[in-house]
Amino acid sequence: MERRAAGWHRGRGQGLRLLALAPFLLLGVLGIAASGSSSAEAGSSSARYEGVASCAGSTCHGRSEGNGAVVRQDEIASWQEPSSASGAHSRAYSVLASRRGRQIAETLGLGAATSAPACLGCHATFVPPAQRGARFHTSDGVGCESCHGPAEGWLQVHYEKAASHASNLRAGLVPLENPQVRAKVCLDCHFGSSGNGQFVTHSMMAAGHPRISFELDLFSSLQQHHDEDADYVRRKPRTDSVRLWAVGQAEAVARATDLFARPDFGMRGMFPEFYFYDCHSCHRQITDGPARRLTFETNPGRPIPFGNPPFNDENIIMLSTVAKTLAPDAGARFAAASLDFHRAMGRERASAQQASVALRERAQALSNALAARSYGGDDAYRVIAAIASKATAPRFTDYAGSVQAVMAVDTLLNALVRERRVTVGAAAGIRANVNRAYAAVAAPETYRPAEFRSALASAAGAIGSLQ
Ligand code: HEC
Ligand code: HEC
Ligand code: HEC
Ligand code: HEC
Repeated sequence: MERRAAGWHRGRGQGLRLLALAPFLLLGVLGIAASGSSSAEAGSSSARYEGVASCAGSTCHGRSEGNGAVVRQDEIASWQEPSSASGAHSRAYSVLASRRGRQIAETLGLGAATSAPACLGCHATFVPPAQRGARFHTSDGVGCESCHGPAEGWLQVHYEKAASHASNLRAGLVPLENPQVRAKVCLDCHFGSSGNGQFVTHSMMAAGHPRISFELDLFSSLQQHHDEDADYVRRKPRTDSVRLWAVGQAEAVARATDLFARPDFGMRGMFPEFYFYDCHSCHRQITDGPARRLTFETNPGRPIPFGNPPFNDENIIMLSTVAKTLAPDAGARFAAASLDFHRAMGRERASAQQASVALRERAQALSNALAARSYGGDDAYRVIAAIASKATAPRFTDYAGSVQAVMAVDTLLNALVRERRVTVGAAAGIRANVNRAYAAVAAPETYRPAEFRSALASAAGAIGSLQ
């Protein structure tokens, strides 16, 4: 089977992707991570989880070379890859025992992080003992079945000649090729859910947990362990990055607003749960001398009282922008609901809760519209241009939204190269512009909105010039 034949298959990077990764991982180290309610869909059934070992046979997913006839068969090796993001899920449990993991749990009085449900919900395949098969180990971390679903129903039959993707789905395999389904699975851990142990509170962050930053298309590439070859597209639809990115934004808004509307997640004591708000708007330096120097800019997308912490609108900005470009009618309704939502923050909790539910409905409608729409032509170019346009620029006043914009430009540029609409050489030629935008969000402490806007505009301008 061809291994990323054109050098531009999704994932584990070559060429540009590698360059793109470098600054991204740097951001990871510095602790940027941005990133949604419902619960682990996969966990909702009562089927048994069989454990990573049950996938690991050398005639199954345990080969050292990705040369399988249908699928690569070296998926375990990718999942365990020690030095890259593709292996992060196999390390998820062991990081709980790291110095940082222990320190967070100790600060919160949780006992050992490795046995605390509040941590295991996202750092392992965390299911009740009755649903654990003979080869299941919590210490495997985020195993295959955290995403692909409990294997009891399909483990023995999914590789047989008579099996088809449809029969596997009927047996309980999760249709991860569906952008809406995939987004929900990832967001359970890469934003949060109402499921068991799947929510990172501000209290955990204050105790030392890194921020959570997520973008569906980019993160899918980073952990990819399959090839979209001829065989794949006979079984499943080809991935369209613009769709995956756009649906990821809509589902992230839907998740955040759904959780925020819930009394047990949206509030912490007498305060709203700070996790939902823009971190850096509270964590800034203060100048209280006579020479007034404001450290924040007001934002036309957020009609909130001067000095209030803003709800983290990184995905709202992206979704408004893509909707305006690709689904204008639903987009206008979403934009209006978003203004109402921010405005409601200046009123009492009940209004904010209602506005949150209304915004969630708009986001869900957009998720459906963006998932069902067909993509092609100049969509990626149009979205990149819209993100960097004069109309959107004034909304980039804060760190988290700006990071999200850079991830969008990067992942959509990569999509253009993969689709061979831009050559690898041409993309490398403008890499410096994209890296300048990454540099402008390298650390929250050095983030300056005006500098960021100019870096973003030059990156988008350079991409536009390739059209
Ligand atoms: C909502 C899901 C969720 C919960 C709950 C959660 N985490 Fe995490 N945790 C994550 C994600 C996602 C990351 C990776 C963040 C990134 O870099 O994008 C992470 C990262 C970490 C890291 C840094 C790992 C590294 O590679 O340096 C530590 C340590 C950690 N978590 C410990 C904990 C502890 C201890 C708890 C319980 C108090 C906990 N986590 C609860 C999702 C969660
Ligand atoms: C973080 C979520 C996640 C984890 C963990 C994960 N996968 Fe995947 N996997 C995906 C996604 C997303 C795809 C691509 C969409 C698809 O075709 O299902 C995929 C694709 C695959 C494919 C190719 C499917 C095809 O039709 O060609 C195989 C095989 C696979 N995974 C096996 C595994 C194995 C084995 C493990 C455990 C070692 C594993 N996966 C762990 C998310 C995950
Ligand atoms: C059961 C929880 C869970 C699910 C579901 C999950 N992840 Fe993760 N993911 C984590 C945790 C926890 C980490 C951090 C682990 C660490 O730092 O060692 C992580 C790390 C990652 C990383 C590495 C990030 C970095 O900064 O290096 C990528 C990429 C990633 N996940 C992508 C995905 C995608 C794409 C999906 C959905 C297909 C997904 N994850 C589903 C829990 C999960
Ligand atoms: C509404 C304001 C507000 C928001 C929003 C907010 N925080 Fe905090 N944060 C605080 C307060 C208040 C403290 C308590 C420490 C103090 O008195 O300064 C704190 C403490 C912390 C600490 C410990 C700091 C220290 O110096 O010991 C960290 C780390 C932290 N927050 C991270 C975050 C992250 C990450 C986010 C975004 C997800 C966030 N905060 C959002 C108000 C906020």
